[in-house]
Amino acid sequence: MRRVLLWMAGSPWLRDRLPRLWFVRRAVRRFMPGEDAAAALNAGQQAQALGIGSLYTRLGEHLTRPDEAAAVADHYLGVLEAIAERKLPGEVSIKPSQLGLDLDPSATFEHAARLAAHAEKLDGFVWLDMESSESTEPTLALYEQLRAIHPNVGVCLQAALHRTAGDLQRLLPMGPAIRLVKGAYAEPRAIAYQGRHEIDANFAALAAEMLGAARGGTPIRIALGTHDVGLIEQVDTHAGAFGLDRTGFEVQMLYGVRIDEQRRLAASGYRVRQLISYGESWYAWYMRRLAERPANVLFALRAILG
Ligand code: FDA
Repeated sequence: MRRVLLWMAGSPWLRDRLPRLWFVRRAVRRFMPGEDAAAALNAGQQAQALGIGSLYTRLGEHLTRPDEAAAVADHYLGVLEAIAERKLPGEVSIKPSQLGLDLDPSATFEHAARLAAHAEKLDGFVWLDMESSESTEPTLALYEQLRAIHPNVGVCLQAALHRTAGDLQRLLPMGPAIRLVKGAYAEPRAIAYQGRHEIDANFAALAAEMLGAARGGTPIRIALGTHDVGLIEQVDTHAGAFGLDRTGFEVQMLYGVRIDEQRRLAASGYRVRQLISYGESWYAWYMRRLAERPANVLFALRAILG
């Protein structure tokens, strides 16, 4: 099933046809409130009513020309304005490749710095997503450059990669904001843990390292980007043992995934934030979400049928 879904994700023929079908569009709504930023912001407002913060990310294909990055940056400037106007507890989360990192790193820095500066004026915050391992070093370098001049920027680190423990030590002196995730990309054995248990153990160890740094006075913002509630509770126990409470870190989950747990965690004192994706280029992203958890195909079929 997983292989079929990933094949479907990569098929240009299906990409041109499936998104036009009304029942496919209906099924996708479980993971995406709509194609435009306004729909995402409305969903963020609903989350706010439940005590859940938001993060906004626009889905997009890889850029083919560096000048397309300026339009992406302009788009996010508008989203930052809208978040401030609506007084939402919202932040933006951007894939560095969408700002042209693999085409022109210095122009990417200019775009990202423009966003961070604007966000700073609005009391906003900009996260950099982490993409596949070829982009780890350029993304960290971009983050270091940005963090040196703006306090309101964060970066994602992946527990699946062997290098992450070292990357964390490298960033700690900057007083970073870090979203720790397991890692969404298939990476080779030479550089990445392959088994679920190894990745989970590294996630817990990295989270403990961050909590230890916070206890030692490092001004670090810690976010756990995972739906793994067992792991979140393990980190919470660790925080308690360090004399920190659960407001010392936040939990970030995806819109439409484990919403009951999001509500339960928020109601029991965790700081929870929901990553809301939107955009027209949702087909491949949606198929990958289904592939991540083929049981979701049942939800999709149910949505299609009824
Ligand atoms: P895991 O896959 O072990 O799942 C834990 C539990 O949650 C399981 O019970 C599972 O069934 C359930 N679950 C997980 N996904 C589900 C789904 N789609 N639908 C229903 N249930 C689901 N990765 C990356 O490489 N770079 C990045 O920048 C980011 N950014 C990011 C931000 C945020 C807010 C989140 C939540 C995740 C990311 N990720 C990411 C993705 C991350 O690396 C990882 O691939 C997914 O979160 C899935 O792994 P979990 O940690 O949720 O655990």
